[in-house]
Amino acid sequence: MSTKAFATSSITDLVDFNQQSLLVAAGSIAFNPIFWNVVARQEYHNKVLTKLFGGNSRYGCYFLAVVIFGIGILRDTIYERALRDQPALDVLQTDTVKMAAGGMFLAGNVLVLSSMWALGLTGTYLGDYFGILMDARVTCFPFNITDAPMYYGSTLSFLATALWFAKPAGILLTALVFVVYKVALTYEDPFTAEIYAKRERTRAQKSK
Ligand SMILES: *[C@@H]1O[C@H](CO)[C@@H](O)[C@H](O)[C@H]1NC(C)=O
Repeated sequence: MSTKAFATSSITDLVDFNQQSLLVAAGSIAFNPIFWNVVARQEYHNKVLTKLFGGNSRYGCYFLAVVIFGIGILRDTIYERALRDQPALDVLQTDTVKMAAGGMFLAGNVLVLSSMWALGLTGTYLGDYFGILMDARVTCFPFNITDAPMYYGSTLSFLATALWFAKPAGILLTALVFVVYKVALTYEDPFTAEIYAKRERTRAQKSK
């Protein structure tokens, strides 16, 4: 069957590394979580966005939400454009793969949209860093499936797009998405955990 095609092809046949659009897509994928982590920490320590909005932390958070949403759309567009410059792989061009891709895209979007719904706007877009804390930890769907439904849902959508267009380069970029989000989580999880632990300590102090 297709084993011969695999045996004789190297990674450079599957992915065209000479396309600048590939590098731009990789850069955009890496940039986004770095951007929102840097900005959110600046907000937490120096209240930069709250100050920008005259002391209104909610407006600051809404602004960050719009920016994060915008650079997300931009990244997705850059990704899709980059895939157009890449070779397709024959063995991926089947109805089965297309169907699997459709299912993954649906599942990915359900994870992303339902977690936005569960967290609300400020909960989704780093409100904790602005001092807008959730009342309690969200444990309902999709948080009963994974701790980071937004990140895994987004990763699934990237993979789905790669498979839909039968582009190995897309699978490679999806691997980068996965790694970048994993790294982001190792920064974000302990930081937000500490924000909430701090609130608990303050509450305990007050009730003494
Ligand atoms: C998560 O919650 C949903 C909706 O409440 C439920 O249908 C689903 O079975 C739960 N999943 C797990 C793994 O607990």
